[in-house]
Amino acid sequence: MSAAQPDLRQRHRTALDVLRRFRQEHLLAFWERLDDGQRGQLLDQIEALPLQLIERLDRERGAPSGSAPQPLTTVLRDSADSPHWESLGLKLVAAGEVCCFTVAGGQGTRLGYDGPKGLFPATPCTGKPLFQLFAESILGWRRRTGASIPWFVMTSPLNHAATESFFREHSWFGLGAESVRLFMQGTIPSLDDGGKMLLSAPGEIAVNPDGHGGALRALAQSGALEEMTRRGVRHISYFQVDNPLARVIDPVFLGMHAGHPGSSAEMSSKAVAKRNVAERVGVFALIDGRTAVVEYSDLSAEQSNAMDLQGHLLFGAGSIAIHAIAVDFAKKLTAEADSFALPFHRAYKKVPFIDERGVLVEPNQPNAWKLEAFIFDALPLTGRSLVVEVRREDEFAPIKNASGDDSPQSSGAAQSAQFANWLEAAGVVIPRQCDGTPDCQIEISPLRALCAADLRGKVSGLAVERGGRVTL
Ligand code: UTP
Repeated sequence: MSAAQPDLRQRHRTALDVLRRFRQEHLLAFWERLDDGQRGQLLDQIEALPLQLIERLDRERGAPSGSAPQPLTTVLRDSADSPHWESLGLKLVAAGEVCCFTVAGGQGTRLGYDGPKGLFPATPCTGKPLFQLFAESILGWRRRTGASIPWFVMTSPLNHAATESFFREHSWFGLGAESVRLFMQGTIPSLDDGGKMLLSAPGEIAVNPDGHGGALRALAQSGALEEMTRRGVRHISYFQVDNPLARVIDPVFLGMHAGHPGSSAEMSSKAVAKRNVAERVGVFALIDGRTAVVEYSDLSAEQSNAMDLQGHLLFGAGSIAIHAIAVDFAKKLTAEADSFALPFHRAYKKVPFIDERGVLVEPNQPNAWKLEAFIFDALPLTGRSLVVEVRREDEFAPIKNASGDDSPQSSGAAQSAQFANWLEAAGVVIPRQCDGTPDCQIEISPLRALCAADLRGKVSGLAVERGGRVTL
């Protein structure tokens, strides 16, 4: 008999008592089949469960969600005031007050890529992985501003090890291990229709990462917020791992976030005009006078179609999940990091589970509610929050699906189109098809140029052939 057994027995009794109170005792149904190692791991998982929260979430399922959204006014990034905001933003970056933060804990189920999405080959000519692309951008901004610009990357327990190995294998892409900080987000169990948690193995509860909204708690619990303060960082440049066009540092946006009268400098956002009524993106709106993002499924058909006198959609500012967040704001929200959580949203998904006979079932229909928190739910907690409208072709070409819209193909084409515009602005002739899209593939490393202006006077004589590929 192992020395650990009496302890396990005691922990098992306690866990069973607690689980019974929450009607979740089935999680221990296969106890007798488990070895001591598996028993210990299952108990660790059970002891860390936020049972009260889970019970509340199940109770609140289907509860009405707040008052009616009202249209919100955005401000344009590109305007006569841009140079002013750019110089303010550049000062913040140069003073070391800005860090980058990438959320990369998602499962990427729609893309179906076997590995963390940050490893996905994303660029049009060389197939550069997303993490490398962002690392090169950060290096470019370091060179330009002389600032250290630390990079924080949120992973999940499901992809942390693979992400860390990737960074190690690539020697942290020349950024220096001390200025790249990887940390894990939390997880949350899925619930079946009866509010019961599922097992993914006889000794393991089925969990998924707790959404990008889990970032705030993870930043606090991992010590990342403290580290930012120690380094003198005051603002976080937040973006998602799957958008190769994300500007890792945007001085104009950062300046607006920090200094614009419409901003309390707590949390600001970027938006793009929705392509059309049917586009399935969350939109910015006011709810009870506060800035919020409303999911497309939560707008009525009437609201989705409503237009102003100029023919613009009233709810047409689509969220592209790019934010500037003040470190102090994140600290204020998470002062009680253990009890802090943004509201959870639920989606009915296929979740493999162990049935009562102990057999693994791979459902072919959705069978359980996955819970996820969204970072934009922190917006209503700000004083005044700015929504800055940018051009889609400059900043948003996500890789979400394996094909069609928001796929590697569409994103690669959008990247190529942006680089074609940059080259054209620098005087290079770009072969184009009848519809105006470039008839060539172009990729420019962020180490070569961070924006169109960086190419001016540096690419004269460059010839781009019809159907050709150009990598700079
Ligand atoms: P998505 O909502 O697109 O989810 O994430 P996903 O997990 O990447 O893909 P699907 O839905 O399974 O196909 C948007 C961003 O938020 C991050 C993702 O890594 C991506 O950068 N994210 C998402 C997290 O960091 N954690 C999560 O729990 C969920």
